[in-house]
Parts: sequence; structure tokens; C-alpha cells
Amino acid sequence: MEKKRVLFVCLGNICRSPMGEGLFLHLLEERNLSDKYVVDSAGTANYHVGERPDNRMLRTAEEHGVYLPSKARHAVSSDFKYFDVILAMDQSNYDDLNQIKPNDATADLLKMRDFDEEDKGGDVPDPYFGGADGFEEVFQILKRSCNNLIDFLEKEQL
Ligand code: 4NP
Repeated sequence: MEKKRVLFVCLGNICRSPMGEGLFLHLLEERNLSDKYVVDSAGTANYHVGERPDNRMLRTAEEHGVYLPSKARHAVSSDFKYFDVILAMDQSNYDDLNQIKPNDATADLLKMRDFDEEDKGGDVPDPYFGGADGFEEVFQILKRSCNNLIDFLEKEQL
């Protein structure tokens, strides 16, 4: 069976989308579904290309036993041809992605919090310039959202 390809996207690809990617991988493993998916993350900006996730996000992940494999890269138009689902962390990421979406895109572009029953369709807040609490909040939002996303993808016969 073809693997489903899932891409998480934020602005810098050092905070939110690496956590989305790492958590999604972690939850797949817990549910014995790892073999069915290809997972990656990217940023709409190129400021941090090549970098590992922000130390504060790495620490939050470690506290929850989650590994973040990400090394930052820029989102590109061809991502819309390779991935099946692209998850934007906030409205601005969504709008920026729409700008580079090719006419023959095959990926579905969705917002991460379309899968969060608390503030459905809202933004995953950018924790970069805020305090330590913001990173834990992002973790909790992404945990709910990723679990629901897996439920959705497993039900859907894409
Ligand atoms: P992210 O957070 O989009 O969740 O990775 C940010 C990281 C870096 C910057 C902004 C947001 N920055 O302005 O450098």
C-alpha cells in the first residue's frame, strides 16, 4: 500500500512544525502505524535553514519523551506534488503556502487546528518571542491535533 505523506509547516521550521512532525511520528509509533506514513516539516521563511529545533522546543519535547528529528528547510512549490496533506500552523503560514501552491497541486492544504476541538480552525500560537509557557501550550495543542489527524487519515481512504 502507498504510504501517506504528511508535511507540517510553520514560519521558521524550528518551533511549531518540528514539534508537529516529532509528535506525529511518536503517536504513529505508539499506535503501530509508523510504516504507513512519510512525515516531514518545513518553514515558509528561510531564516533558520539547516538548524536543529529551538532549544526551548527541544527541552519541552524531551520532557514528554518525544524526539524531534527536524533540520530546518524551506517549504517549496514541489511539496504540493509530493505530499498528500500539508498542515499549516497558522493563517499566515496558510496564506503564504497558498501563494506557492502550483495549479497542479495534489496535496490538500489544511490548518493544523482544523483537528483541534478546542479552538477549531484557529492558529497554533507562535511561541518564539514569548515565555516558557508558550512551548508547553504548543505541545498540548499539537498533541490533541495530531491524535485527531491520525484518526482522520486512518478513516479516510485517500
Ligand atoms: P516557528 O517559530 O515558526 O514555530 O518555527 C518561529 C521561529 C523563528 C522566528 C519566528 C517564528 N523568527 O522570526 O526567527
